[in-house]
Amino acid sequence: MALLPIIEVPDPRLKQISSPVDEVNDELRALISDMFETMYAAPGIGLAAIQVGVPKRVLVIDLQEPEEEDGEPVRDPRVFINPEIVEHSDQEVPYNEGCLSVPDQYAEVDRPDRIRARWLDENGAAHEEEITGLLAVCLQHEMDHLNGILFIDHLSRLKREMILRKIAKARREGGKKAA
Ligand code: NI
Repeated sequence: MALLPIIEVPDPRLKQISSPVDEVNDELRALISDMFETMYAAPGIGLAAIQVGVPKRVLVIDLQEPEEEDGEPVRDPRVFINPEIVEHSDQEVPYNEGCLSVPDQYAEVDRPDRIRARWLDENGAAHEEEITGLLAVCLQHEMDHLNGILFIDHLSRLKREMILRKIAKARREGGKKAA
């Protein structure tokens, strides 16, 4: 296992469209295991392969939600390979999103609150499930990465540029170095 450097805005690789995985093999499983380690260390709840510079349609998600409020976070690692949304609700809900590639910035994004998704797991098995709540938000956010879209691309240009300027300023002040 290894920690991988996370790419941050405005790195042009984040705008790349990732390619479908054609074989789920040990090499891919090694990448997935490194992605989990990197995500937990960040810490974050989701990571797309392109965020560590690999343009493949692979995501890892772990909401790490405690069983009870104030409880210990419980790990529930989930892998999504070649994910697709086959259906989504018309109803959208706002959620205050953040992203490991957009350090320390958050903004509300509206997304469908219920989706039906299809994907392969780390053993190549196919799944189709209806997904709601935070997992639906997170999966849609991560799937956007596969198409070169960041949560700030859902905001007005004014808000997006403000966020990018704040990040550039924080870097100049040495608070956060570019990965
Ligand atoms: Ni993200």
